[in-house]
Amino acid sequence: MVEFDPEALQAAAESARQKSAMGSNATDQLAPAGSLLVEDEPSGRDRATDLRTQYMGLSLRNPLVASAGPLSQSLDGIKALSEGGVGAIVMYSLFEEQIRHESAREAELLDQSTESFAEALTYFPIEPSDESGLTHTYLKLIEQAAPVIDVPLIASLNGSTKGEWSNTARQLADAGAAGIELNIYYVPGDLTTTGRSVEDRYVEIVTDVKSKVSVPVAVKLSPYFSSFGEMARRLDEAGADALVLFNRFLQPDIDLNQLTVVSGFELSNPDEAKLPRSWISTLFGRVNASLAATTGVQTTQDIVKYLLAGADVVMTTAALVRNGPSYAGQLVDGVTSWLNRRQLTLQQTRGMLAVPVDADAAEYARSGYVSGLERAKRTYAQ
Ligand SMILES: Cc1cc2nc3c(=O)[nH]c(=O)nc-3n(C[C@H](O)[C@H](O)[C@H](O)COP(=O)(O)O)c2cc1C
Repeated sequence: MVEFDPEALQAAAESARQKSAMGSNATDQLAPAGSLLVEDEPSGRDRATDLRTQYMGLSLRNPLVASAGPLSQSLDGIKALSEGGVGAIVMYSLFEEQIRHESAREAELLDQSTESFAEALTYFPIEPSDESGLTHTYLKLIEQAAPVIDVPLIASLNGSTKGEWSNTARQLADAGAAGIELNIYYVPGDLTTTGRSVEDRYVEIVTDVKSKVSVPVAVKLSPYFSSFGEMARRLDEAGADALVLFNRFLQPDIDLNQLTVVSGFELSNPDEAKLPRSWISTLFGRVNASLAATTGVQTTQDIVKYLLAGADVVMTTAALVRNGPSYAGQLVDGVTSWLNRRQLTLQQTRGMLAVPVDADAAEYARSGYVSGLERAKRTYAQ
């Protein structure tokens, strides 16, 4: 896996110069490589730069996407995101447990059979916002929002098993969703489930949902697989139109004063982008699916780093929650400004610092690890 160091930047800048000399679109007027990643002042005159992007077959006006989160829970919120300048919006998730709960309730009303409620469902926080249920509310929101915004609206389904609940994907598409983001969040808590069966489950869910819709399907994943690369390749082969790296786990903490377990939720910070960025740089050019980066974006620089690693789109929730939906416009202007200052197009920038396709990614990662460790030892030697 690759990280960004001055040598890599220098090599990339040199490569872009060479391409330019050979008549490609790359620039021959790059700034010195060491200053590639610097603060940028957004500027109005940069707006002409073409940021149009393809993401899982959808045409986007720019590569900044609002990831699934709290800002898309209302029509006004969705409109604000669109007006704020993002290239696409992923709605908050509809959960498998909610869908199954509603189906079970409908069945119970028909059947009056109280046993049909699985006990586990009672653990799940389900508060329908109106009489018609959460699925109805979600579908209604898509129907209202999709026609009145300028950008694709992607619905989000969050589940962990293959089952009838995934029929909802078709309803989401019929309601006007331009695509489905499938957040598969499965944490086997027992001590017997094998890694392969976990992986198979992911592939089955994706295959199932793909068979039910004609709109593109993205898969939002966790990094916790023995061999994430193979998992990504299997999902790619199963027809995933995009891979969204990575799901952010909400891991509980312990309150030492109260001696209790607390949910411990915090918004992300840019350091957390290193893992998804590394995997994006490894997958770039090796899978057909689009690559979406999620986690750790606060500034334009965080977006540019993801693009250099090879992301087709870069998602954020934290930055928009912290600064409001209009901050998207500033981030996009910042990207334009950065590209203009380097005289690079978006296409030239994307993947510039990815693991070269002809390199052995495992050796690449290993040598990066070893040389990184050597550098650290020299730095910290007494
Ligand atoms: C308040 C909040 C609500 C979220 N809700 C969802 C959700 O419904 N579905 C989902 O897939 N991700 C959800 N996420 C995760 C985000 O989509 C994103 O993957 C994560 O926050 C990391 O990106 P960030 O660093 O830009 O925040 C939520 C995040 C936050 C902060």
